[in-house]
Amino acid sequence: MMELDWLGGKIAGEGVLRLSKKIRDLEDVFEDHAAWTSMDPETLVYSVEWTQPTAQDNEGGLFWGVTVIEPGRVGEEFFMTRGHFHAKRDRGEYYTAVQGTGMLLLMDESRSGRWEQMTPGSLHYIPGHTAHRVVNTGQDPLIFWACWASDAGHDYGTIQREGFSHRVIASEGSPRLVPSTQP
Ligand code: PA5
Ligand code: NI
Repeated sequence: MMELDWLGGKIAGEGVLRLSKKIRDLEDVFEDHAAWTSMDPETLVYSVEWTQPTAQDNEGGLFWGVTVIEPGRVGEEFFMTRGHFHAKRDRGEYYTAVQGTGMLLLMDESRSGRWEQMTPGSLHYIPGHTAHRVVNTGQDPLIFWACWASDAGHDYGTIQREGFSHRVIASEGSPRLVPSTQP
């Protein structure tokens, strides 16, 4: 059994996996390369904790995890996750936010984009064939839990090459969604 710190975004127990992404790991994720270069490479952008009770390719199994995105910006762009399609494209996922405010960017395979506001208690169903990225548009950490299929896998390459259709930038202090000019 595992124990969750639901609002703190932590999982305690044996076999919990953890990763963190710092500015240095996120080259090419943010549009403003000059701003990215000028930042401390050790700045934490987001961290993930998750459990894998089954093998990664287990059909029918589920994984459970939490992501904490720090508040911050690279140039005008808010801190965000890398974003991905699932390697098995038809696999869906649930996200639910518990702290902070942000935006869930969704994009289908024909690059048609939409977005959902994330606030404490918001529940988001991400259908299959849909890339997903979360942007922290607030002043506090954005914390959300996720549940996804064990055999979904992560395809980061497509987003790395082609980017998302939209980006979220700070415009006079408020988040604004703008079409991407480049991946
Ligand atoms: O499974 C998910 O979609 C999440 O747990 C993400 O992996 C997590 O939010 C980090 O985002 P990314 O994998 O796009 O870096
Ligand atoms: Ni996912």
